[in-house]
Amino acid sequence: MRLRTAHTMKKVLFTNAEYANSLDQLDKLLQEAEQVPNADHKVLIYQILQHFDSIHREPLSRIFQAVQNYPALKEELVKDPTTSRLLTLYDIIAEEEANGHLDDRTIAFIPEDQVKMLSPQRKKDWLELGDIDSFENQKLYAKNYEKVNFLISRIGADFFAVQNQCDGSFLPIDQGRIEEHLLICPWHGCKYDIRTGLSVNQPDKKLVTFPVQIEEGGLLKVEIAY
Ligand code: FES
Repeated sequence: MRLRTAHTMKKVLFTNAEYANSLDQLDKLLQEAEQVPNADHKVLIYQILQHFDSIHREPLSRIFQAVQNYPALKEELVKDPTTSRLLTLYDIIAEEEANGHLDDRTIAFIPEDQVKMLSPQRKKDWLELGDIDSFENQKLYAKNYEKVNFLISRIGADFFAVQNQCDGSFLPIDQGRIEEHLLICPWHGCKYDIRTGLSVNQPDKKLVTFPVQIEEGGLLKVEIAY
């Protein structure tokens, strides 16, 4: 009697056409996700996608690194329309390298630079920022901790901390201004409620906010996730 191992793999899980159809469905869903009106839900969707991206991108790039010494195998991977598509989506090979083996569809995938910018949060630290009296009212103070750029602002007796980067852009906003509870981006005028991070004039935009705390004696602390 021949025993089958529990790990016998089906040779083909999807045909090329089914794979292509799946890509089309993914693209459609990503475009629909762009239209989600609630900014928190949108952030959540992107965070889930970014975690999926991270857990695939690194091992995939290591696998491809490992096949570099096997030119025939590498060529087979690049020639296959499904693997070449995956390798280009994760920026492991350039589209030109897969030339002739890809169809002409474009997919709204997460660019690598954004993945780096919003890599999974692993740790949280409470950071001491000094005495509250060292912060002037309605001014913006740019700070950095563990590669997280953030802003501190004092409005009356309250303190707020938000990311120092306009949503959807790489531009910092520490040269912006505060009007009442609004933080106004210096570049194109996006207005954020500094208490919630939500934009009041562009509802799909939101800044990450960080918890702040004032210790007895006036020591200001902020909790940074990184
Ligand atoms: S960069 Fe902030 S509104 Fe454009």
